[in-house]
Amino acid sequence: MNVILDNVYCVGTLNPNLRIFDIEMCTEHGTSYNSYLVCGTNETAIIDANHEAFAGEWLAGIEGVLNGKEPSYLILNHTEPDHSSSLDACLAQYPSITVVCSASAAINIKNITNRQDLAIQVVKNGDSIDLGGLTLEFYSAPFLHWPDSMFTWLPEHQIAFTCDFLGTHYCEPRIFDRTLSYHDAFMTSFEAYYQAIMSPFAPWVRKGLAILDDLEPKIVATSHGPVLTKGSSLEKCIDLYREWSVEQPSSPERIALFYCSAYGYTQALAEHIAVGISTALPEAKVSLYDLVGANLAHLGTELNRSTAFLIGSPTVNKAALPTVWNLLAHIDAINIVKRPVALFGSYGWSGEALPQLAAHLTTLKAKVFDTQLSVRFAPSEADLAAAEEFGKEFALSLLA
Ligand code: FEO
Repeated sequence: MNVILDNVYCVGTLNPNLRIFDIEMCTEHGTSYNSYLVCGTNETAIIDANHEAFAGEWLAGIEGVLNGKEPSYLILNHTEPDHSSSLDACLAQYPSITVVCSASAAINIKNITNRQDLAIQVVKNGDSIDLGGLTLEFYSAPFLHWPDSMFTWLPEHQIAFTCDFLGTHYCEPRIFDRTLSYHDAFMTSFEAYYQAIMSPFAPWVRKGLAILDDLEPKIVATSHGPVLTKGSSLEKCIDLYREWSVEQPSSPERIALFYCSAYGYTQALAEHIAVGISTALPEAKVSLYDLVGANLAHLGTELNRSTAFLIGSPTVNKAALPTVWNLLAHIDAINIVKRPVALFGSYGWSGEALPQLAAHLTTLKAKVFDTQLSVRFAPSEADLAAAEEFGKEFALSLLA
């Protein structure tokens, strides 16, 4: 248990050993399932629940603060099971508790618990609950990161409880950002989290930021990672969300070339393709990225922000390289639809990488350029000239 401010406690749990969240997201530094207690003079609310694997520890932490007193409310800002799968255990311990959530969250939790008899208080934007000296106000914040999500605001302490929004899959024993031991690792995880969880919902991220701009919180108490405080990381984290979610102008074109290259052959193709693109579209912003050893979460952000992109991969063991697939794992599948993409690469014995990548990108509904540039071993002068021409043709196809 950690004291956040007077009568506000963090009763979350730590999962430092988690390495994969939601089946597919790598969590190199684990995560936490933050939950909070807000204790008014009349009533007490729990804000956000917990993962069922940690339900016992979570409820013991609550009991350690309440010492037999019954909480009146469980505020569920969001119902993904990392925050709601402990609901049955909570109801067993506090059978008279009222679950407070949005209308769509109410539907979800009936299906998550398979119970229709839950005491649920549905709240909408602007509703509030008076706990006695402390007030909870509710702000609709859909798609952050499911349609059900909302923020809870504690005006007396200027704390915003935002659940996933501004969260991070990151775990240290100390809960406040100002006490972190490995701040750089936190910031890397913060970006990876944004990219994996929030980036598909950029328009709603901007709306969430507008809510916080109006509220001017001193503390943002998320449900994953450190509690963000003004004067420490809060301003920086908000600025980064603002930067990452900014609406991208469709002009000029932002064209990103990503490549892996063992002996410089695919790299040479990438460089000549870039020249061809810049020749055809002098106004375009053309960026080359070597994937080897790169921060793939960061490059995934660049890919998702591009107006068109290219992937260069050799073929090893009849496949594209794992690094290339790992980059593609960061693709925002919602916004990639119809995005122009072209493929190129050098190969030795066989060249399966490009058709495999084309099939995958077609499944994602990206607009895959008909022509693929494939060269056996070292590109000749003629191959490099062809690479420039390939870049020009792809660039001009963007104008069609
Ligand atoms: Fe942390 Fe969308 O759940």
